[in-house]
Order: sequence, then C-alpha cells, then structure tokens
Amino acid sequence: MEEQKLYHLLEKMTLEEKVNQLVQIPASAFEKSGVDTGDVEERKYTQRQISQAGSIIGMVGAENVRRIQKHHMENHPHHIPMLFMMDVIHGFRTIFPIPLGQGASFHPELVERCAKAAAREASSSGVHVTFAPMSDLVRDARWGRVMEATGEDPYLNSIMTRAMIRGFQGGCDIDYQHVAACTKHFAAYGAPQGGRDYNNVELSEHSLREYYLPAYKAGIQEGCKLMMTSFNSLNGVPATANPWLMKKILREEFEFEGVLISDWRAIEELITHGIAENERDAAYLAIESGVDIDMASHCYADHLEELVTSGILEERVIDEAVFRVLKLKNVLGLFENPYRGADPSEESRIFLNNNQRALSREAARESFVLLKNDILEKKLPILPLSGCRKTVFLGPYVESQKLHSSWALMGREKDAVSISQALYEKKKGEELHFHIIKNMNENSVQEIREADAVVLCIGEDRMQSGEAASRGDICVPEQQLSLLRRLYEINSNIISVVFSGRPLDLREVSEKSKAVLAVWLPGTEGGNALLDVLYGNYNPSGKLPMSFPYCTGQIPVFYNHYSTGRPCLKENTPYRSCYLDIPNAPLYPFGYGLSYTKFLLSPTTLSHAVMKGEKDIITASVIVKNEGHVTGTEIVQMYIRDRKGKTIRPVKELKGFQRVQLAPGEEQIVEFAITEEMLRYHSPDGVMRSENGKFTVWIDNSSDTRGEGVEFCLEK
Ligand code: BGC
Repeated sequence: MEEQKLYHLLEKMTLEEKVNQLVQIPASAFEKSGVDTGDVEERKYTQRQISQAGSIIGMVGAENVRRIQKHHMENHPHHIPMLFMMDVIHGFRTIFPIPLGQGASFHPELVERCAKAAAREASSSGVHVTFAPMSDLVRDARWGRVMEATGEDPYLNSIMTRAMIRGFQGGCDIDYQHVAACTKHFAAYGAPQGGRDYNNVELSEHSLREYYLPAYKAGIQEGCKLMMTSFNSLNGVPATANPWLMKKILREEFEFEGVLISDWRAIEELITHGIAENERDAAYLAIESGVDIDMASHCYADHLEELVTSGILEERVIDEAVFRVLKLKNVLGLFENPYRGADPSEESRIFLNNNQRALSREAARESFVLLKNDILEKKLPILPLSGCRKTVFLGPYVESQKLHSSWALMGREKDAVSISQALYEKKKGEELHFHIIKNMNENSVQEIREADAVVLCIGEDRMQSGEAASRGDICVPEQQLSLLRRLYEINSNIISVVFSGRPLDLREVSEKSKAVLAVWLPGTEGGNALLDVLYGNYNPSGKLPMSFPYCTGQIPVFYNHYSTGRPCLKENTPYRSCYLDIPNAPLYPFGYGLSYTKFLLSPTTLSHAVMKGEKDIITASVIVKNEGHVTGTEIVQMYIRDRKGKTIRPVKELKGFQRVQLAPGEEQIVEFAITEEMLRYHSPDGVMRSENGKFTVWIDNSSDTRGEGVEFCLEK
C-alpha cells in the first residue's frame, strides 16, 4: 500500500481503534493453543480490545493463524490485519545451536543461514515478527540468558546481530519467506547486578556506549524493523520509561524509525519498580518515553484513551506510534495478503526437512569448542576417536534428547537426535566399537577399565539456563562430578563433552579429563554433529565467545577490560590488582579453541607504522600455516590496544577476524585493514573520535595473545 493511503487510514480511525493498535495480546486470550512466554494476568481483555488488537504474541500454526486472522479482519472496523509475533530464537521446528554457540562459530554467513532457515519455517507457520536477535553484551555467566547472546565482545555481537537480521528479514522488502526482526533488549539487559535476572543495571555512560550499545546500533543499521525495551533499570531509571535511552539515543542518535515494543508486561512493572503509581501512570510514562506497543499488559489498552481525552497526553503521540505499527504491517505486505506465508502445505514441506536438518548439523559442529586435547603416550592426541578402538559412553547426556534451550518454543524433544541414536545409526554403516553404560556396576567397571577412551557426556540441564534461570554457582552438577571422580580412578582416558547454556566452572572437569569439548545446547542434530567431531569427520574450529571463568568468584571476567593503575604483572609485588587465591586469567579465554591440526602463526607485520590522516589504511598481516596432518579452519583474530587516551582504554579489543581453511602443509597470508574509524572511542566530551598516539596490534588465534604485539602511530 502507498504510504499516503496509510495516512488516510489513520485519519479514519477513532482514538479507541488507534490505541488498540498499540496493544499486544497474549495468545491465550484468544484460545488455548497459544504459547505464553510470561505470566498472564487473570484479568481479561474486553471483546472490543481483542477484536481491535494490533498484534498477538505466541500464536502459531498456519491453520490457526489463517483462521484467527480471517475472523479478525472480518470484525475489525477497518479490516486492519493483525501482526503475529513470536520468539524464534534459535530455530522454529528445526533447532539450531543456541545463540552463544552460534557466536562460537565465528561464522556470520552460517549464522545468517540459520536465521534464514528459521524464518522460513516460522513464516510458513504464520509468524510475522520474531523477537530476535538478542544483542545484549554479556559478561556474567551466572545470568541465565547468556545463552541467548553471542558473547562478551561488542564487535562480534554487532557482526552476529547483523547476520541474524539479514537472515530473518532477507533484505529491506521482507518477502513472505522471511520475518521482521526485533533487536532486544534496549538497553544493557545483559549487565544485571550479581547476574540475577531482571536485576538493576548500574553502568557508566562511558561503558554503556563503549561496550553495550554498539550491537543494538548495528541492528538498526542493518535495518531491523523493531526494537524491544528491557526489564532492567539503568542507573536508576527503568529502561521502559527512559526517555534518555529511547528518545535521545535510540530515535535521535541512532535514527531508529521502526517500532519500539515493551518487554512482557514491562510497562505494568513500572509500578513494582516504584516509578509509577498505577497503570495509568505507567502507561503515560511509557508512551511519553517512546514505547509504541504494550506487550501483554493492560496499561495501554485501559488508559491511553482516557489520558488523551483528559488532555494529559497529546493525540499526536498516539498517532505517531500507530503510524509506525501500520507501516510495519505494510512493509510485511499484510494489507495485500493478511495471511502472508502461513500455509499448512509449506509447513509440512519445510519443517525438519533434510536441508533444515543438514544445516542444523553443520551449525552444531561449527559451534563446538575444543578446550583441551592431550597427547597420549603414542604421541597421538586423545581426539579424534577411531571407530575400531573401544570407547565407552556414559553420563546423563548420552541418551538425552533435551538438546534445545528453554527458548526453543516450538522445538520438540522427540525430533532431536541423541548421542546414542546417532551412535547406533553410525554403526550401521561402519566399524564402530562402542558401549553405552547406563549404570555403574561391576560389569561396567570392567568395561570402562578395558576401554581405550571414556566419553563422559555431562553438563547443565537445559532448564538451568535461559530466562529467570540465573545461578549462584556455575559448577557442573555435583553428581556428575562424583561420576567423573569415580571414572578417573578406573580409567583416566576421559573425554568430557560438556553441554551448557553458559560458560561453566570447568576446573575439575578439565583437570581430570584428557579432552574437553564444549557443545552448548546444540539443537536438533546435536548427536550426529557430536559424532562428526568426536570421530574426526569434522575438525572443530569454534572459539569461545565468552570467557570460561576459573571459578564463579572471578566473575565478571572478560578479556576486553580496562587497564588499571596497578595491573597484575608477573613480578610478585603485593600492591597489585590480583587475587590472593585464584589467578586473574579465566580458565579459558575469549577467542580460544583448539583444532585437530596445529596452526602456526608468524609474527604480525604492518604495511607501514604511521597512519597519516583519516584516509590512510594500514594493512596488518600474518602468515598462517597448517603444520598438522589434517585440513582445518583457524579463526584468525586481530586485536588492537590504544596505548593512551583521554579516558582509560581496554587492554585489547577485537577489531577483526577471518576464517581460514588450510590443508596440511598449506600456508596463507591473512591480512586485516586497520582504519582510523576502528580507533575511535567515546571520548569524555561525548564524541566518538580517535586520538593521535600509539597503538598495539596483535594477530593471533585467541584473545590470550602472544608477545608484545607490533606498534603503529596515528598522526592525523
Ligand atoms: C523476554 C523477551 C521475550 C518476551 C516475549 C520476555 O519475558 O524477556 O526476550 O521476547 O518475553 O516472549
């Protein structure tokens, strides 16, 4: 529809009809088949509110959606179609690895394909908008929602946010096989105090801008159609009623023109936050701060109209918000075809088909991070396994099909391939000597003793991460550690495969295992993907998107921290920023991950050592050589440190990465362009700018970079 026609439509609407466009109703208000993702208030919406509602959350299924939309259109005074929104976080029916695992792939093109495949399934099932990507930067592994993030680095988060949006939306004109993306949660939801979900965030503007805001901004630049507010308060003001965040930064600075939606009942929560007296007050604060849609609370539905008629709120504010909602409906083509992609035959053709499954398997393999792989007596590393050697598998994850996170709302356990299913399937085609141990008894002890390798499949349950799933101690469950200790006495050739929605404290697991593989929550094809890696059909290349702490007490621990006046140096002088009882360094740092082959990186060289002016580009390069016996992919990473600024600067920052695949013996020059723009930071006067002076560059395969790096100067 031409935009002009939308204005005409808006003019014809009554105030009540307009307000209802800003109301998002939970699916269960329509019928039982919906999926609610939060507490639903017992109070019912009125029939008029339901029949005029602008959007619905949690209703899927092509037939359901078509039927409800048809009824809605027939009853709506202007026949305005409804928007169907849903959280499609890491897959719809075919489930891909959790976003943290996707971050570990360092493979944006793959992440884009996963989002595209998820959009395809979701749109065939009637979804118009997904509440993804979650672009919150995360540093505290106790927070259960780190699983939904792509990690601790603003650059990686920005790249992955963009990739997901490209995949979900498929470009500016979102065709019927794609869905609109909603970047969330604006802002800084990933920094709750103590890692406890929904807790307050206290963050300097400096850190907010340096670390937390870039990924949301990247989402806007990539053209996401919606943005979601966050539950938390930021420096004393709840994000959902924070005009500085939403008007000044989001709309003015970042020039976001799309729809701003609240999080689930977050407007009503302004009362419990203690900044609104009642729902009417909450509605006023939220709309005045710029929130367009009220998700799942009654505040807008019951109070906006009266706020306007009593002269407190200008109708213009409502009109602007409604116009953004109408524009979104228009972009999605709903005025031409209110059913969009919803099509039962497409659902059955696409859900879990071979292509979808193959992609899920590929993505899972690429998300795995090999943390340890010891060399055995015969000079061979313990991994990969060889099929002809005897391997026992045990631990709670061997037979589990719980390979999805709590956010895989439409994923079904029965569709997931467990490790044991994958083993039996693999055995059909090749020689494979394995034994699955269900209970530790005398017979199995003998079996374990005689095995060449023991694969222990452990980790958190999928419900131990996700929303409202913060943990005070991020250990592997005690029962599993006891099993590990017992095994260690019997046969120390242990390969620990660790499932989790977050970095865990893996000290003991790592000490007592010869190999450790982090596999996150890998999704539908988890079992198959794992065997691909364990048996060497796929050489792992994942890198940690978030540091694995040495222990919980070390949190928050992240590689790109600011410098201090008394850094922890090797010389052991007492007055230093060190712990007495634990190291400062995490157990496994950001960007770290091993391969079955060995890559050698030459020292970093620069094309020239002085960057003259803003147009000058320095090329930093290394030669990467595969020194091992198998083909592998290395993720080559470039880090830069600004040696002196007007504020303190991070000790290093990721500024680029490249995936390089090399055959045995092959080598390649890997080059990175260093531009002046990369050197800018949020300076004290509030402007992003670079400053003349010295910088250090490292190109390496982890954030734990070797040596001093090489220096260059900026002279503008
Ligand atoms: C979550 C959001 C989610 C929304 C709708 C909230 O509880 O914080 O991330 O999109 O529910 O399901």
